[in-house]
Amino acid sequence: MLIDDWWSRYREIIPDFERFLAALALPPPVYLRVNPRRTNAAALQDRLAARGVRLESVPVPGAFRADGLSRPGSTSEFLLGHYYVQGLSSMLPVLALAPEPGQRVLDLCAAPGSKTTQIADEIEDRGLLIANDFKIPRLRALQSNLERIGVTCAAVTSYRGESFPGRISFDRVLVDAPCSGEGTWRERPPRRSRDWDPSQPERLHPLQLRVLSRAADLVAPGGVLVYSTCTYAPEENEAVVDDLLALRSDLSIEPVAPPVPHAPGLTAWQGRTFRNELGLAARIYPHLVDSWGFFIARLRRT
Ligand SMILES: C[S@@+](CC[C@H](N)C(=O)[O-])C[C@H]1O[C@@H](n2cnc3c(N)ncnc32)[C@H](O)[C@@H]1O
Repeated sequence: MLIDDWWSRYREIIPDFERFLAALALPPPVYLRVNPRRTNAAALQDRLAARGVRLESVPVPGAFRADGLSRPGSTSEFLLGHYYVQGLSSMLPVLALAPEPGQRVLDLCAAPGSKTTQIADEIEDRGLLIANDFKIPRLRALQSNLERIGVTCAAVTSYRGESFPGRISFDRVLVDAPCSGEGTWRERPPRRSRDWDPSQPERLHPLQLRVLSRAADLVAPGGVLVYSTCTYAPEENEAVVDDLLALRSDLSIEPVAPPVPHAPGLTAWQGRTFRNELGLAARIYPHLVDSWGFFIARLRRT
C-alpha cells in the first residue's frame, strides 16, 4: 500500500482534504516555549535575534514560532534551558488539562517531557507532578529535560500505565497515549506500508483503552482526565474514548476549546457510531494549524 492510499481513508472526515494533503508535503515550523525559570520572552527574543531568529507570538501563552532557528537543539540558549522546543499542537492537550498551582497531576505517558515541562509551568512548579513512562531509554530524555528546564515539583516513575499503582488520586491526569503517530508524518512520511504498519491503529486500541481506563481510576472525584494522541486514526481516538465511556458511568465529556482553528471529534466512522458528545473533542489538522496533527478529549470524573 502507498501512503496516498492510506491517507484516502480520511477523505470523508478531514475537512478541505486537498489542502490537508498539501500541508503534509511541507515541514512544520519550529515552535518553542520560553522557560520562565531561566529567562523571559523579551530577553530570549534579544538573544535569538542576534542569531537572525525571529520570534512570532502564537495563541499559547509563553510560546512562539521561531523563524530562522534551523538547529533549535544546539544553541547555548537551548542547553541553558531558556526554551523548550515543542510543536504548537502538542501544547494544546495541557491547555485542555488546565492544571492549577498546588494540584496533584499525573502525566502517565510522559517521555520525553514536552507536556510535563509545560504542566510544571502551568502549576508554577507548585504541587505534585508525577511524570511516568514505561520505556526506560525514554526516561533518560525525560529526566534530562526536567533538569535542563529546572523543574522541581516533579518525580519520575516507570510503571506500565495500565498498572500504575493506585495509592493516591490526582486532580488532573494526562494520557498522551502511545499511538501510530500519523500526525507527525509531514515532509518525509513513510512511503510504503513496509515502512509503517497499517494494522497499528487496530492493534494499539486495546492498549490505549487499558491505559486510559487505569487513568480514569486515578482521577479524584471532580478531577479532569485528558486523552490525546498525535494521530488521525479514529480507532485510536474517538473509538477509545467511546469504549471507555461504555465501561464507566462516572465520567462525562467536556468541551475542548483550543485557541486555534480545529475540527470537532467524530460521531461516526466506517459504519460505527460514537456517542454525540464526542463532537466536544477536538481534532487538529496541519492545514488548519501549521504544526502536527492531534486529537484531544477532556473528561471529568463525576
Ligand atoms: C506520545 S509519547 C508521549 C510524549 C510525551 N507526553 C511528551 O509530550 O513529550 C507516548 C509515550 O508512551 C510511552 N508508553 C508506551 N507504552 C506505555 C505504557 N504501557 N504505559 C505508559 N507509557 C507507555 C512511550 O514510551 C512514549 O514515551
